[in-house]
This record gives sequence, C-alpha cells and structure tokens, in this order.
Amino acid sequence: MVSDLAHDFGDDFLWGAATAAHQVEGNNTNNDWWRWEQIPGNIADGTRSGLACDHYNRFPEDFAQWRGMGHNAHRLSLEWSRIEPSPGVYDSQAIDHYRKVLGTLRGLGMEPMVTLHHFTNPLWLADRGGWESEDVVERFRLYSRHCIDTLGDLVHLWVTINEPNVYAYHSYTAGLWPPQKKDLGAGAHVLRNMVRGHAAAYREIRQSANGPAAKVGVAQHLRVFQPWRPWSPLDRLAAALPDRAFNHWFLRACTDGRAGFPLGFRHQLPEAVGTLDFIGVNYYSRDMVAFTPWAPGELFARTFPAPGRPISDFGMELYPPGLYRVIRDTWDSYRRPIYITENGVADGVDQFRPAALIGHLAEAARAQREGIDIRGYLHWSSMDNFEWSAGYKMRFGLVEVDFDTQERKPRPSATLYSEVIRRHGLGWAQVEKFYPSGLPYFVGGAGSSSE
Ligand code: GAL
Repeated sequence: MVSDLAHDFGDDFLWGAATAAHQVEGNNTNNDWWRWEQIPGNIADGTRSGLACDHYNRFPEDFAQWRGMGHNAHRLSLEWSRIEPSPGVYDSQAIDHYRKVLGTLRGLGMEPMVTLHHFTNPLWLADRGGWESEDVVERFRLYSRHCIDTLGDLVHLWVTINEPNVYAYHSYTAGLWPPQKKDLGAGAHVLRNMVRGHAAAYREIRQSANGPAAKVGVAQHLRVFQPWRPWSPLDRLAAALPDRAFNHWFLRACTDGRAGFPLGFRHQLPEAVGTLDFIGVNYYSRDMVAFTPWAPGELFARTFPAPGRPISDFGMELYPPGLYRVIRDTWDSYRRPIYITENGVADGVDQFRPAALIGHLAEAARAQREGIDIRGYLHWSSMDNFEWSAGYKMRFGLVEVDFDTQERKPRPSATLYSEVIRRHGLGWAQVEKFYPSGLPYFVGGAGSSSE
C-alpha cells in the first residue's frame, strides 16, 4: 500500500500560530505605539489598536479554540509596558496575568514560545531615547531577568527580540514607525544595541534556575533579495547589500561577534558570540532589486515585487520557494536548529492562504528532507489583529475576527491546517491540489514507499 503522506514532519514537531501582545491584547495604553496611533495619519486605514482582539480577557477561549484546531504550540509576546510600567517598578498583577496565560497553554498541552520584545516600548523608555539610549541594554537585561525569574518555570522556548532588522529599519531608517527617524546611522546603532540587549537577555535566561531547560533564540525576518537583471553587476551588488545588512548582520553578530560592513566598519561585539540556541525564521516574501544611485539610505536598492506573480493584500509577492531558500541559507551559514516563527499572508477572503500554507509547508518539508533541523511551524497569525501602521485592514488570521462584535470564525485554511497537523504532515492529495510544483520533492522519498 502506498502511504497517503508525502511528508511526515515527525512526532515532536511544533504546530501552531503566533501573535504579539500589542496586536491582540487591547488597551496597551502605556507604550510608544499607542501614543503614536493617536496622531491622525499614522495608521493607513485611520484605525487604532484600541481593544484589538480583547485577547487580554479572551485568551482562555482563544487558546481552547486553537487547541481544538490541533495546535500543540503557540508563540506570544509579553508586553514590557505592562510588566514594568515605570523604570524599575514591576507590576505583580501583570505577571499574575501572564502566569495564567502560560499556565492555560500548558494545561491544554500547548508549548509556549515567548517573545520578550515585539516592537513596542514602555513610554518611559521611549521618552529616554528608546533603543538609541545608552542604558537600554541594561534596562532590557533587567526586564528580561524579571520575566525569567517570575515566568521561567513555565517557558522552555524564548525569543529575545522579534525582527530586530525590521524594527531598526522601519523605526530608525525608513521613518515609517515610531520614532520615525530617517537615519541609516541611527538604524545601525539601534541594531548594535539590540544585539547587546539580546546577548544580555540570553545570558540571564541561561544562567537562571530554569536556564538548563531553556532554549533561546531570536525571530529574524528573512527576505529573498533577487537581482532584477541577473547579468547586471550593479543589480547584483544592490541585492547583496541588503542581504548582508538585513538578513545576515544580526545573526552573524550573534554567532561570531562580527558586526561590521555594511552597517559599520570592523565593529566587534564579543559578548554576543554564541548566543543563539536556535534561529526563528519569519518569512513572507521576495523582493526584486534594481540598483539606484538615488537611495543611499536604502543601500542603493530599489525593491519591487516580481511582475505577474500572485500578490497579497499587502502588495507582497507570494513566493513559497523563498522559504526553502532562506532556510537553506540560514542553515548553511549558522548551523542552528530552526523554527519557522512566522509565515503567512494578508488575505481577507482566504483566496491565497490555502495554497500559500501548503506551498510554504512543502518548501519547509523539502528543507527537512535534505537534513536541515527544522523543529516547528508557527503561522502568522492565529487570528486577525492590529497590523501595525496598516491598521485592521490587513487580515493575517487563520481565524477571522469581527472587530465590532469580537466574534471569531475559523477560515477554510484553518481547517486545512488542522488536517495537516492531525497527520503531522502533508498528504499527496494536498500537495497535488495546492502546490503541484512541489510534488517532485517527495517522489522517491519515504512517503512514497510501499508498505
Ligand atoms: C512581522 C511582524 C508581525 C506581523 C507580520 C505581518 O514583521 O513580526 O508582528 O505584523 O509581520 O506583517
């Protein structure tokens, strides 16, 4: 008999989805994003985070729903501004809350992966210069230690910082997010501070009483930068620079301490050497890159989606093979276990999500079959939520949320995902229907053998 599974991800594989505190909890009034959202024009669709998904109160029902969909893991973030509302003052009620959150997940048999910093900063920190300030590393270390001391018994998987590259770029180089700076030097400085903050948090976690059982990593946004005219040395250079600066710079610094070109010269951050137990891969899309002399702040890159390809509501190309490419590159460069910590699509009508889901899983399977150590897949996102400066219009959820009534409704792709999870793998029929170009990855493999 021929197995109906094209690929089995293994019994220990983590399956679930991800959220971030500010995007789902509601009423995070004490952070820099909340303040910034109140200024008209900052959020594209004119919305504000407000009550968000009211997940701060509804987490038990939400977790139960996702567990019912088969998820055995969940990635979430802690809101620093709730835990440390003013410098050095910790709120025990906030910690009690997160203990309930984590305890509820554990009680349901869902492994939590916990992020310490996901884009938002307490107001007091923002007002002191945020990630540009001198004492941010020490502040982040102390906050991290408090989280570990009070929550560490419930957490085995820690992500110190979510997408340091996206944060530094959007907030300090492109001027898109608070504090809206447009300064490549400031972006590089922030990134260096984030490496140091990450390293300090890493040590705190590993040296804590719960350290031996914990694994610590970072969730890095990885993109494929593809030269628009492959024959052009300038386009190749324009693609290579963001690949180094955006994809590799932070990870390189956290592996061998090198933090130089193109975001500085000969910087060394020796305290960061060896501070990644795993790498979290957040993958969404590919950019075509053409050289332009007019954008030195963008490292001379003009980026755009490949013409004629499927595009998400966000205007990003859907390109599943890119997941394989970034995983392969990350593995070849750093040899660390990999979790896919985010992957998803803005798609309010679930038009592209089913094929995107199966396509990206097929590409992850391909990497796993080649021997790469991939340990989990966490879809972005569990449910629709506040999509930063794009507001509520961009819908990434497996579960649809009606923000007037807070009603939740699983989309068809949520059910499709459940079918994958139930069998720990991809069925031949699923690959054939949603991603036929992936079929050759599985022919002749374990899944096709006769039993
Ligand atoms: C990531 C970010 C998430 C979410 C997602 C979708 O960059 O970590 O918070 O917004 O993109 O755009």
